[in-house]
Parts: sequence; structure tokens; C-alpha cells
Amino acid sequence: MAVTRILLWVFTFILSSLCSCTQMNNSTINLGSSISAGSNSSWKSPSGHFAFGFYPLVTGKYLVGIWFDKISEKTLVWSANRDDPAGKGSSIKLSRTGQLALTHSNGTEVVIYNGTSTDSASMQDDGNFVLQNSSSGIIWQSFNFPTNTILLGQALVMGQKLYSNANDTVDYSTGRYALEIQELDGNVLLKAFHFSTPAYWNAITKGNVSLVFNRTTAFMHVISVEDNSTVSNMTTTVPTPINDYYHRATINDKGNFQQLAFPKANGASQWIVVWEAITKPCIVDNICGVFGYCTTPDDKIVNCTCLPGYLPLDPNTPSKGCYPNVVMDFCASNSSASNFTIGSLDNVDFPNADFANLAKIEQTDEDGCRKEVMNDCFCVAGVFYRDTQACYKKRMPLVNGRISNPTTNNMVAFLKVPVENNNLNHKDKKESPSSAVLLASFLACSILAVLFAAIGICQHPWAQRYIRVQLQPPPKRKPVEINLKAYSFHDLQEASNGFKNMLGQGAFGTVYSGVLTLEDEEVEVAVKKLEKVIERGEKEFLTEVQVIGLTHHKNLVRLLGYCNEHNHRLLVYELMQNGTLSNFLKHMELHPADESAEVEYTILTDWVLSCVRDGNLEATVSNDTELLSDYKRFERMAMVGVWCICSNPTLRPSMKKVVQMLEGTVEVEVPPLADAQIF
Ligand SMILES: *[C@@H]1O[C@H](CO)[C@@H](O)[C@H](O)[C@H]1NC(C)=O
Ligand SMILES: *[C@@H]1O[C@H](CO)[C@@H](O)[C@H](O)[C@H]1NC(C)=O
Ligand SMILES: *[C@@H]1O[C@H](CO)[C@@H](O)[C@H](O)[C@H]1NC(C)=O
Ligand SMILES: *[C@@H]1O[C@H](CO)[C@@H](O)[C@H](O)[C@H]1NC(C)=O
Ligand SMILES: *[C@@H]1O[C@H](CO)[C@@H](O)[C@H](O)[C@H]1NC(C)=O
Ligand SMILES: *[C@@H]1O[C@H](CO)[C@@H](O)[C@H](O)[C@H]1NC(C)=O
Ligand SMILES: *[C@@H]1O[C@H](CO)[C@@H](O)[C@H](O)[C@H]1NC(C)=O
Ligand SMILES: *[C@@H]1O[C@H](CO)[C@@H](O)[C@H](O)[C@H]1NC(C)=O
Ligand SMILES: *[C@@H]1O[C@H](CO)[C@@H](O)[C@H](O)[C@H]1NC(C)=O
Ligand SMILES: *[C@@H]1O[C@H](CO)[C@@H](O)[C@H](O)[C@H]1NC(C)=O
Ligand SMILES: *[C@@H]1O[C@H](CO)[C@@H](O)[C@H](O)[C@H]1NC(C)=O
Ligand SMILES: *[C@@H]1O[C@H](CO)[C@@H](O)[C@H](O)[C@H]1NC(C)=O
Repeated sequence: MAVTRILLWVFTFILSSLCSCTQMNNSTINLGSSISAGSNSSWKSPSGHFAFGFYPLVTGKYLVGIWFDKISEKTLVWSANRDDPAGKGSSIKLSRTGQLALTHSNGTEVVIYNGTSTDSASMQDDGNFVLQNSSSGIIWQSFNFPTNTILLGQALVMGQKLYSNANDTVDYSTGRYALEIQELDGNVLLKAFHFSTPAYWNAITKGNVSLVFNRTTAFMHVISVEDNSTVSNMTTTVPTPINDYYHRATINDKGNFQQLAFPKANGASQWIVVWEAITKPCIVDNICGVFGYCTTPDDKIVNCTCLPGYLPLDPNTPSKGCYPNVVMDFCASNSSASNFTIGSLDNVDFPNADFANLAKIEQTDEDGCRKEVMNDCFCVAGVFYRDTQACYKKRMPLVNGRISNPTTNNMVAFLKVPVENNNLNHKDKKESPSSAVLLASFLACSILAVLFAAIGICQHPWAQRYIRVQLQPPPKRKPVEINLKAYSFHDLQEASNGFKNMLGQGAFGTVYSGVLTLEDEEVEVAVKKLEKVIERGEKEFLTEVQVIGLTHHKNLVRLLGYCNEHNHRLLVYELMQNGTLSNFLKHMELHPADESAEVEYTILTDWVLSCVRDGNLEATVSNDTELLSDYKRFERMAMVGVWCICSNPTLRPSMKKVVQMLEGTVEVEVPPLADAQIF
């Protein structure tokens, strides 16, 4: 009967290994266990309150995450891949050698824990997923890598952040708000990080602190790490007995940090807010996006409206912001007071965005403020304070628009509203660009143009001969996250040591190196001084500040600030490490035969444009026979690039058209060179 015994043993073994994948009560997960997306299996905590596994999204994809499993909402509290959801057929595996990894359906592996001393894993009843070694010591835990939520017993330490979801109902990727304990001073902050404005809420704490969600009391406190003393209380009251409720604290998609409770008893249908940092939702920065403003009838619902002259980017999601109905350059030579009207909005202000502050005019009146807005081409709005008789002039982009308490009636905002121009209208209708696509393609094209310049020209082997990179010594100072800041001319003069160290010279200005102190740290910067402040220079300035200020992309040189004082126009850029994009663009030198004659063409895009203008595009590739053999394709790419950098955004092609032009399915027309812009 040995065979029967062996069969029985094999059978038992198979059964038990199957069980280890879908066990309900025993929370120990053994090495070699795995879950696949779409299988409905998960690793549950002993009582079943929490589950770890693939969390289905409305998009049909999955997040590797932890969620409250016994309530109908299945609220997600942690995720390993919020910005890169996995497809059906992906799997998460605790390998026999101890690594925890997500394998996408295309085979790409994303390692969550890469050590080797793992003995087992378990989904704990407090919502913490832990990896343990042979002596049950915790060697990795999800509590140390929070996403947007903390749970009872969990703490947030200095430097850690909670990032909101982009949208709590449909999009769990990293959103626009963060709760952090600032490493600098220990202050607990809420801030919007797209427009680098200061915090819109803080707990006024300092020292070496952490934020604890006390397991026994369900109260949140900020405590001193030195002696565990309470520095600040957050929660004021919780429903009791606390064991009858689930608890969580989450930064939501509207930038509020809330503590919530959910009755464990059957029948409950939603989370109850127990405590919240923000009680007036309109004070959250960027809550209605660019060119929008916030009103709230009951201090609960946020109502986002576009400023007069602007339309919603996405009518279904007004919080995404707005774009100009008519794109107009108020500083163009053919622009006059007849091209716009001045609209007014009672009690609207645009606070907390220093980069948009142009000037403060004291001792004036409403009419004076209106005139200030009208007569300054850089100004798009002015807020007049009736009590202090001061007028605050604002530039693009307008953010943080909100209605203050309407009963006080102590301010009024004046706005430039473009008057639709017949020519422009005609063109718009002919090309019929979908309005929402306009701004998006404007931004996307800007990014593309810079990428083309960098990839298409700098990385192509033929380019190596014409571009000599001036290697910078590796920066010793670490780059910091800072705000788009307005500097005085004096500040920048000092920072650049009197504009001594020139990095390069372009058609529109000269670039100098400098050092600025930002948030107590010295940062190396490139200061671009626009010298010919003629129409084009001003136009460039506007475009640069507007576009780059609005754009935040890892492949773009970051604009840190600017100076716009009297006739001085300067831009402050981050100085790139290892001589990347900015070096390629700013320090290119030509050997191109005649060295002395053409050295002034130090900015790549300027130079390419001048070649196009002179009908001499071949010059950019010199004698490269290989490239010239595919000249048509090269010319097409270059022309598409020029289209994308038109100063008039309405002339820029949509992304769809860009793709068609690159594919060759659509003819590339000769771009309007007079309109091409460099930024
Ligand atoms: C396992 O858990 C389920 C659900 O929580 C429960 O109904 C069942 O009785 C448990 N089984 C054992 C053996 O504890
Ligand atoms: C859970 O199961 C593992 C093996 O699958 C076993 O080693 C462990 O003792 C079990 N724990 C409990 C509490 O039953
Ligand atoms: C998973 O559960 C859903 C809903 O309960 C069901 O429609 C689906 O068929 C299940 N999938 C598998 C593989 O069991
Ligand atoms: C596989 O899919 C993942 C998830 O979408 C993606 O991040 C990754 O880049 C893909 N890998 C390859 C080689 O395409
Ligand atoms: C994991 O660790 C091994 C050995 O230390 C290393 O070779 C491998 O590159 C690591 N994998 C990742 C994704 O970090
Ligand atoms: C297990 O981990 C704990 C805590 O990290 C550590 O103190 C202990 O030495 C580890 N034990 C083994 C056998 O590695
Ligand atoms: C989330 O998406 C829904 C549906 O698209 C939308 O109604 C809601 O306004 C969005 N919420 C936020 C904060 O953007
Ligand atoms: C939680 O509160 C209890 C009772 O007030 C206290 O004894 C304990 O030290 C607190 N725990 C933490 C981590 O602050
Ligand atoms: C503070 O509390 C933690 C956890 O509750 C404890 O491990 C630590 O020893 C305490 N520190 C002091 C200084 O009391
Ligand atoms: C926090 O609350 C406790 C109990 O309500 C109180 O004794 C303590 O003084 C408070 N601490 C601070 C810093 O407000
Ligand atoms: C939203 O605010 C705008 C501007 O104040 C107002 O006209 C509109 O009626 C409001 N909508 C709702 C639903 O409150
Ligand atoms: C301003 O209006 C005039 C007359 O309608 C028009 O010719 C001109 O192009 C407009 N300027 C701008 C910048 O749109």
C-alpha cells in the first residue's frame, strides 16, 4: 500500500500548498506563495478586516495594495504601484529566496523588497503588511511606506509624506497635495506641489517630531521624538467604543487631511469625518486649477468656476482649471486697449502665489487699480483692497482664485478679458481645434520641441562633432524643491557676482552662473539676462515665464524664478547636473569651417531656426552623407519642431497632427518663421 500512501501524501501536499494561496484565517504567508491579478484571491489578516492583493480599478487594471476588506467600499489604504497599475495576468510573489516582487503581464519585474533574510510574510490585523525573518523580527513593513493614509498604530516621521490621490473615485495615482513633516523644522504641513506655493495649512510644530495615530485612544498627536511628549493635538473627539469602528486618516483629493471612522456593525454605508485640518475648502491652494476660482456655499462642496474670458479644460471636472477663450499676447506691438475689456469680480482674491505678484500700488482707488491693470501689459489682474486702499497687480498664471467672505465686501478683482478678434476667430474656425486640446497641445508641444532638440540633434551621432559639451564640475549642493520666485535685479546681480561668470550667449540674451540661497541651502543656478528688451525679447520673456512656469516635467530645465523690474528681464534656471539638457542647449559651440564668424550662435534652437530661415538646413548636418541620404525625413522632423515652437499657440499643431506629420501621413507645411519662438 506504499503507492496509496505516497498518492495520499502528494494529494495532501497539493491541497496544503493550494491553501497557502487563499487561506482565510491563518495569516502566515510562506515563501513561494503568489497571487495573480484577476484571480480574486488575496492574503487576508486573521480577522479578515484587511486584505493584501490586487485591487481592481475602474480602468480594468490593478493596484498591488491593502484595503479594508469587510466593508462594501473596500477602501484602499496602501498601494505599491499607484502610478503604474498592473494588467490582468500580473502576479505578486514572495519568492523562495525571500524577495517580494510584482511581475507585470509583460514580464517586467518590480521589486518591492529585495532582501534575502525573509522567512515569511503576514497581513496583520492592524493593516500592516510585514515581512519577517526566522526570529520573527520585522524586516520590511508597509507602514514604513505610506501612500495617502495612516492607520491606528502607524506613525509618520520627519521627511515622510502622504500624497493625495489624483481622484478619490477614479484615479489613485499621485495627486497634487501632500501632508509632510518638514525636515527643516518639524512643522506638519499641507501643501499643493504643482504651483510651488507655501503651505496652506500647518500644525505649527517644531523640533524632532512624529505624527502618531495612537492605537489605544484613536487620537492623532504630534509628539516629540525625544521624550514622547505631545507637541500638538489634532483629533478632538472620536466615536466610542473605538473598537466598534474602523479608523483611518487620509489626505483626500481636495487637499484636506481628515480622520475618518466607519462603524463595524452591519448596515453602515460610509465613512464619517471625525476630524479635519481644513474647514474652509476654498483655502486649499490650486483647488480650482489655473484661471479658475473657488466658491463654497456650505463650506463642504467645492464649486469651481472659470474666470471671465476663460473656459474649463474639462467640463466634467471643473477643478482641472481653465484656459483662455482667446489666446492673446497683451504685450504684442499690435495690441491695444481695444483688444480687451476689464471685467470685475467682487470679493475674489488670488492669495498665496508669490510668483504671480507683479506689484503693490498703495494709496489708490478702484478706478486707479482698474487703470493699472489696463496700462501694464504684463498685468492680467489686479485685486483692490477697500480697507487698505491698495492694489495688488498679478501676472500669469492666475492660481488660487477664491471668493472671500461675501458679507465683508472688502475687495474687488479686475481682470483683463480679451475681446474676440475677427481674424483670429476666422482662423480658429478654419482649423477648428477642439478648445480643450489647445492648451494641452500647447504644453505638450513645448515639451516635444525641447525633447526633439535634445534627442534628435544632441544624441544623434552626427551631432557629436558639432556640439562640445562644457562639463560642469558635479554640483556639491543638492537640488531642492523651491518656488517660482520673483527676484529683484539687485538680488540677481549679487547672486551672479555682478554677472561675472558667463556661461553662454544667445540671440536674446546672455547666460551667467550664480549661486542663490533657497530654503537655507545654496543652489547653483543659471541666470539668463534678456538684453535686447525689444518686442521679441518681451514676448519671449512672457512665453518663457508662462509656459515653463506652468509646465512641470522631469525632462525640462526647471525655471526657478525671474526678475521683471523696470526694463530688466531675467530668468533663473536650475543648473543641471552632469551637463544635461541645459548644457547641450546653452553651451553648444560650432566648429561648423569658419570658427570666428559664427560663434554667436550658441543656443541650439536659435541656430537651427536661422538655418531654416536662410534655407540652409543642411548646415545643421554639415557633410553627414548618411543623414543627407535621408534628408527628407530629417527636414520633416525639423519642420515639425519649428511648428511646435510658434509663439502664437493657436498656430501650434495638435498632438494628433504632430504624430501624423512625423509619420508622413500629412504634409508638413512651411512653418511661419517670423512666429517661431525660442524658450
Ligand atoms: C476563518 O475565518 C472565517 C471568516 O472570518 C470564519 O467564518 C471561520 O470560522 C474561521 N475558521 C476558523 C477555523 O477559524
Ligand atoms: C499557519 O500556517 C503555517 C504553515 O502554513 C504554520 O507554520 C503556522 O503555524 C500556522 N499558524 C497558525 C497560527 O495556525
Ligand atoms: C472575481 O469576482 C468577480 C465578482 O465577484 C467575478 O465576476 C469574477 O468572475 C471573479 N473572477 C474569478 C477569476 O473568479
Ligand atoms: C511592462 O508593463 C509595465 C506596466 O504597465 C510598464 O511599466 C513597463 O514599462 C512594461 N515593460 C516593458 C518592457 O514594456
Ligand atoms: C536585488 O538584489 C540583487 C543582489 O543583491 C541584485 O543583483 C539585484 O539587482 C537587485 N534587484 C533590484 C531590482 O534592485
Ligand atoms: C530579525 O530581525 C530583527 C529585527 O530586524 C533583528 O534584530 C534580528 O537579528 C533578525 N534575526 C535574524 C535571524 O536575522
Ligand atoms: C473625480 O472624478 C469625478 C468623475 O470624473 C469628478 O466628478 C470629480 O469632480 C473628480 N474629483 C476631483 C477632486 O477632481
Ligand atoms: C497612546 O495613548 C496611551 C493612553 O493615553 C498612552 O499610554 C500611549 O503612550 C500612547 N501611545 C503613543 C505611541 O503615543
Ligand atoms: C516613546 O514611545 C515608544 C513607543 O511607544 C517607545 O518605544 C519609546 O521608548 C518611548 N520613548 C521615550 C523616550 O519614552
Ligand atoms: C493635548 O490634549 C491633552 C488632553 O486633552 C492635554 O492634556 C494636553 O495639554 C494637550 N496638549 C497640547 C500640546 O495641546
Ligand atoms: C458656483 O459658483 C458660481 C459663481 O459664484 C455661481 O454662479 C454658481 O451658481 C455656483 N453653482 C452652484 C451649484 O452653487
Ligand atoms: C488687436 O485688435 C486689432 C484690431 O481688431 C487687431 O488687428 C490686432 O491683431 C489685435 N491684437 C492682438 C494682439 O490680438
